[in-house]
Amino acid sequence: MPGSDDYREPHHQHGSTDALEVALTDDVLVVHGGTPLEGRIRVRGAKNLVSKAMVAALLGDSPSRLFDVPKIRDVEVVRGLLGLHGVKVTDGAEDGELVFDPANVESASTDQINVHAGSSRIPILFCGPLLHRLGHAFIPDLGGCHIGPRPIDFHLQALREFGATVEKTPEGLHLSAPNGLHGTKFALPYPSVGATEQVLLTAVMAEGVTELRNAAVEPEIIDLICILQKMGAIIKVHTDRVIEIQGVPKLHGYTHRPIPDRIEAASWAAAALATRGHVEVLGAQQADMMTFLNIFRSVGGEYEVTDARPPKLGDAGQEGGIRFWHPGGELNAVALETDVHPGFMTDWQQPLVVALTQARGLSIVHETVYEQRLGYTEALNSMGANIQVYRDCLGGTPCRFGRRNFKHSAVIAGPSKLHAADLVIPDLRAGFSHLIAALAAEGTSRVYGVDLINRGYEDFEAKLADLGAHVERP
Ligand code: EPU
Repeated sequence: MPGSDDYREPHHQHGSTDALEVALTDDVLVVHGGTPLEGRIRVRGAKNLVSKAMVAALLGDSPSRLFDVPKIRDVEVVRGLLGLHGVKVTDGAEDGELVFDPANVESASTDQINVHAGSSRIPILFCGPLLHRLGHAFIPDLGGCHIGPRPIDFHLQALREFGATVEKTPEGLHLSAPNGLHGTKFALPYPSVGATEQVLLTAVMAEGVTELRNAAVEPEIIDLICILQKMGAIIKVHTDRVIEIQGVPKLHGYTHRPIPDRIEAASWAAAALATRGHVEVLGAQQADMMTFLNIFRSVGGEYEVTDARPPKLGDAGQEGGIRFWHPGGELNAVALETDVHPGFMTDWQQPLVVALTQARGLSIVHETVYEQRLGYTEALNSMGANIQVYRDCLGGTPCRFGRRNFKHSAVIAGPSKLHAADLVIPDLRAGFSHLIAALAAEGTSRVYGVDLINRGYEDFEAKLADLGAHVERP
């Protein structure tokens, strides 16, 4: 890893040589578009909570049990890393249940750990728990989606504040805590989700009190706090993004059913709208999706929330969810800005933009979380969409990218008739948007690199089949 905290990952462009290499493999889905998606699917535990919950199991002195874990690649990566560190991970009795036994936490060799290099960003969150359990940690080169530089400077700064030493080598990060970890007062320059989780997972067992200001407060973070609290942690969430953690000397295992994946739910909702279909997403929760639902309604989509009803004698109960549909007629253009919670999630942006290509007028999307998350619009334009990207902060408050030469605002002129194309998936959420565009377009598209979608969408091909999509592997 380079010798700067402002570590920049290589950026893979749409249509770049390595993307085309992927394209030459058989990792391709043939999509016969133009059919509305109709039917019902279910979402399980949120990818961006489940992976962190798995890391938290390292902190316990007894086994933890996590339900509703989706079968996605990120879960496999964390499972592999936990296994390397001596955590026994087994499947529980219920489908989607995992049991973690951290009785024999041990060091793993850098070679073994490096097998997971580049596959996910979660390894960075092993720092605090491994420092607590072993006194040292090795973190491989990170992966994750290529949607901007994605530095880890906040993480490393926080770890140093706790008293860790960080040595960067070409193979990764070596951390140690010769004098233990101690509570600290710390303000994040930006409410980063990952850095907030880093602080939580480190502070819970650090000696003394930690006060984190400008923390992220996404529902996935609140759910992680619930897990840590179940384990014996003392964490107060104050107003104004301040989180106070009182360190405790030991934590025990947890049993937890995670919040459902609100990104996956919104992705299927956007797919329903873009294909003029009707999709019920079981498990989707209104409270975590309020901002998305407001925009969905403004665009002209309809939805209905069904509350869960617990089973009683003589009544099997009912699983809650949200039904999303296109009511017919034209969609409306909107202006939206992505933001930290409770704003419009950056991960909702790409799927929704496909539906916005079908709205009459000019829609504006100002991306304020990642500086390079609009590259995928080129592929939509190759299918007939009319999307221009700008360096200016359009349609909202000036953000930190406005003066830094990043094309981070998009103007979408619609409606545009989308036609089929050959597409190469650049990253997870953009990949799903390519898929939606191919489903909405007239004709047969070939979507290359679709396996990337398995990083975050469980069984997406089976779900597409359940929704009546005409897709096939050649
Ligand atoms: N940032 C820094 N320095 C840091 C950390 C973050 O400058 O040390 C910047 C980032 O470059 C970015 C902003 O802060 O511009 C926000 O990044 P954040 O740390 O919040 O993102 P993350 O924790 O790496 C998680 C999700 C993302 C999601 C973001 C925002 C996981 C595994 N990933 O990433 O999800 O977009 O929060 O909500 O939880 C996805 O699921 O496809 C995905 C990318």
